[in-house]
Amino acid sequence: MLRARWYAPEDRIQSPPKPLGADRRIWGGGDDRRESAGLLSTMISTVPHTNDKHLLITAGPTQEPIDEVRFVSNRSSGRLGVEIAHAADELGWSVTLLLGPGAMQPADTRIRVIRFRTAADLEGLLDAQFPVCLALVMAAAVADFRPKNPTPGAKIRRRDQSLTIELEPVPDLLARCAGNRKPDQVLVGFALEPGDRLSESAQDKLRRKGVDAIVANPLETMDSGAIEATLLSASGEGVRSEHWPRSSKGEFATRLMKRIEKWIEERA
Ligand code: CTP
Repeated sequence: MLRARWYAPEDRIQSPPKPLGADRRIWGGGDDRRESAGLLSTMISTVPHTNDKHLLITAGPTQEPIDEVRFVSNRSSGRLGVEIAHAADELGWSVTLLLGPGAMQPADTRIRVIRFRTAADLEGLLDAQFPVCLALVMAAAVADFRPKNPTPGAKIRRRDQSLTIELEPVPDLLARCAGNRKPDQVLVGFALEPGDRLSESAQDKLRRKGVDAIVANPLETMDSGAIEATLLSASGEGVRSEHWPRSSKGEFATRLMKRIEKWIEERA
């Protein structure tokens, strides 16, 4: 069983999210967004690598700053992504986990954890890490919109009039990776959907994003230790849909990683 371990524990970057402005070069905001992404790419690209059985997984929410103390975010806990990282490690993968703010750190010390805060941070990390992985599992709940003109270093003051915050779209990071993929790379996305449109909407995402599979979950998965997913995978010209029975997130994670291994074997 291959266990490619090309990083030392001291390579890890596990710093907790800093307040915006503490180090704007890393956490981004305003005009620094592209710059912060570039800096992270530079930091990480110096690490030696292989894509032989290397999993890149993203998990947790992004935080998009409004001002020094406020941000736009979502309720993702990152728990499912961390379970997948553990399952992959158990199956002999080397694992890099890109983990959002507030998400719990995995207990397994072999998993290489790199923290991000904003979608721009994550974009920079993907630029550096995606080319060297064999599989990308994108479980992070990435913002679709972010404040267009955040005010780092300042605080918006109370007033009696209403306040409008303009949001701009965030690029689709998964679709961007899919556009740059090598033929042997496997890409899996996630979709949290209202039950009545789950399959239809996930099929649309599978095509739109150009990935191998989408794991579609009903909205209730967010607060649950269990998961009842529908796996939609690209199959020739069509789409294969499988309903996986309710299971713990840990069991689901192992099943998903075994399925990814099967797809990889089939391509070899
Ligand atoms: N995703 C991404 N970049 C974004 C938004 C989402 O890479 N800016 C990824 C997520 O990590 C997930 C997949 O795309 O793997 C689906 O995310 P989801 O939020 O369900 O879909 P959206 O494309 O954002 O579409 P919608 O908001 O209409 O559901």
